[in-house]
Parts: sequence; C-alpha cells; structure tokens
Amino acid sequence: MCARLFTRRLRAAATAVRPPARKISNHNFEVNPIVPVFWREKEVINSEKYIIDTTNENMADGPKGNPQLARKMRKVFDEVGLVLLRGNREMGDNLEAMKLWAEFIFPSLSKYEAGANARKGIIPNVYEIGAPKEAWLHFHHEMAYVNESVNGIAFCCREAIEDPEDPLRGATFVSENFGATDDILATEFGQKLKNKGICYIRCLTNKERYSNMDGVYNHWQYSFMTDCPKEAERRAKAKGLEVSWGENGYMKTKCYISGFEYHPQSNRNLLYSAIADHSAWFDQWPTVMEKPYMKTFEGATEEERPLAITFGDDSEMTREELQTFVDVYENHGIPLAWQKGDIAAICNYRFAHGRLPFSLAEGEQRELGVILGQMYKRLGQKDDAW
Ligand SMILES: [Fe+2]
Repeated sequence: MCARLFTRRLRAAATAVRPPARKISNHNFEVNPIVPVFWREKEVINSEKYIIDTTNENMADGPKGNPQLARKMRKVFDEVGLVLLRGNREMGDNLEAMKLWAEFIFPSLSKYEAGANARKGIIPNVYEIGAPKEAWLHFHHEMAYVNESVNGIAFCCREAIEDPEDPLRGATFVSENFGATDDILATEFGQKLKNKGICYIRCLTNKERYSNMDGVYNHWQYSFMTDCPKEAERRAKAKGLEVSWGENGYMKTKCYISGFEYHPQSNRNLLYSAIADHSAWFDQWPTVMEKPYMKTFEGATEEERPLAITFGDDSEMTREELQTFVDVYENHGIPLAWQKGDIAAICNYRFAHGRLPFSLAEGEQRELGVILGQMYKRLGQKDDAW
C-alpha cells in the first residue's frame, strides 16, 4: 500500500472511531436531592436598611409625583443594592404605576431575550415569573449564563398570600453576595471555580413540536424572540454561545464564562453562578422532574432535562461541590415575605434571588410582575480584583 493511501485510510479510521462522548452532570440527585433552605434564620441585614414605609405616600403618579420618595428609594438602592417599597397596598392594583417605580431604578428595561424561563408579558416589559409554584428555584443571578446579563431585577407584588400562620409561604429570598463571595473563595471549590471558570449547557425546545408548554422547559423561538433558526443561532452566538442542533429542531448551546463577575462600584469580583443552571434545577419541577439528567452535550435530546453545568475545562462538579454552591448563598439568605403592593428592586451583582415551593389555599393568590434591569456586557472576573 502506498504511504499516501495508508495515511488516508488511517485518517478515515480515526474519524470513524470517535472518542466516547464525555458524560456531564450525570449525578442522580433524585434519590438524594440538594434541598434548598434559603434562610438560616439569622439577620444578614437589618430590614430597616432596605424597607421604606410607603403607607402614607402618594405613589400613583410614579416618581415624578413624589420626587422625595424617589430620592430616598435611589439612596437606599445605591447603598444596599436592595430596596423594598412597602405599605401602599393600593399599588397592587396599579401595575403601570408600580412599573414606573421599578423603572426609576432600572431605566432602560431589557427584553427577556435568551432568558431561561418561558415568560409572557403582562404589560410591555413586565413579565410573569414563568416557573411553577411546586418547584423550588435555587438562588441565582438573573441571566448569568450568557455574556449579556442584566444589572438588576424588580418584582411588583399584585397579590400576596400573607398568611400569619406561615408568613414565609410564597416569599422570595435574596442572598447578600459579598458574604457569599467571601465564603466560596475560602473553599477549594471556590478556588477551582475561580481558576477554571464554568460552562453552561442549555438546550431549548422547538415550539413546532409542542402545542403547549407541558413538560417542556423553553422554546428557542421564545427565548430568542424569533421563529427563524438562523436568526436564533445568530442571536445566540452574539451572546457568546456555541450552538449545535439536535433532532426535531432541538437547540443545544454552550457558554464558557467566568463563575464570577467584576462589579465596578465595589471594584471586586463577585460570585455570579449557581446550581440553578444544573439539571437539579428541575428536581421538583412537575413534568420535567420525571426526565433524567442530561448525560452528554452531543447526545442531548428533549427526553432529558435541558440544563447542565461543568467547570470551564469540561470536568464535572461533584455533589459535594454543588452542595457548597448552595450553602454559600444560603448562609447569607434574607426573606422577602410579600405584601400586596410591594415593589422590590434588587441589584443583580450584589444579591442572588430564589424561592421555595409554595401552595395556595382556595381563594389565595400570589402574583408578581418581573421587571428586568439594564442589559450589560459581562466582563467576567478581573485578575486584580479579588
Ligand atoms: Fe430569577
């Protein structure tokens, strides 16, 4: 055999025998799930520092009608990274006015493009939560899994449970992130995360395959706000994602990025990643929880859960490491037990947010409008800002 032919055959053999696909995030947590607690019953920040009593405040005309309150709101938000306007219950029936207050903190509202959840607009730029009440939502920073994130998130409470017997039912929790960052950097896991970065694997279903959302996480058409796969791919790549397509128009994306984010105001890197982007996100999510964890990126199908995370060198995180990921946030958890008319603005750098599952008795409602802050291009971590 001539040398050239032999080389060609060798090459053909090499491409035919592919290395076994790497397994990712294939821990079976269903028998031993990572159960979030969110709050360790300690006071992380005195609530007087971030709650503004608005009982007797005129708020119906937005910040223009009450500049004094607006200034106070701005000051508290700048100082703490969290502000909760509470007491004016009539605001709960006036979503347009609540939006004006949220917009005062986050003036250029972002469209929920590339978002994780299937969110529908209530009024322009105000979204539903997009997650079932039965599921816990692990602490996370909003849109940390793409290179364009948002600087904050606001919640407007239209209806709340307000059960005196169980005041935290339906509460949202925030986690103070300077503390969480210090804690994680003190662990071996935190140092690995700092040195290796993180890879987010996210798959999106094709809406043509489903008449509704039952059992399905999110369609790429909604996430990227287009029905054209080429355009969706272009938008995904613009957000730093690697894209490949599976069967039935199943869109598979990967994003290699830092697990931290440089925060210019404090001149330090803050923790900006969480277990919320792991298959375990769905451990209590009706219809998706029955599906197995994603086993490989290459072989991922819509029969598996659509999320996975690894370190940035594609190596797996152990269950212990993922537990540490949850613990550092929970050590700094703060409950926000909603009352009708509450408006909360949360800095996405300085706080993570999440919630427990909750139940609703007959006649009870819990309705929050979500408003996203300004979009910004992620910088990742800076070497001299630890
Ligand atoms: Fe969120």
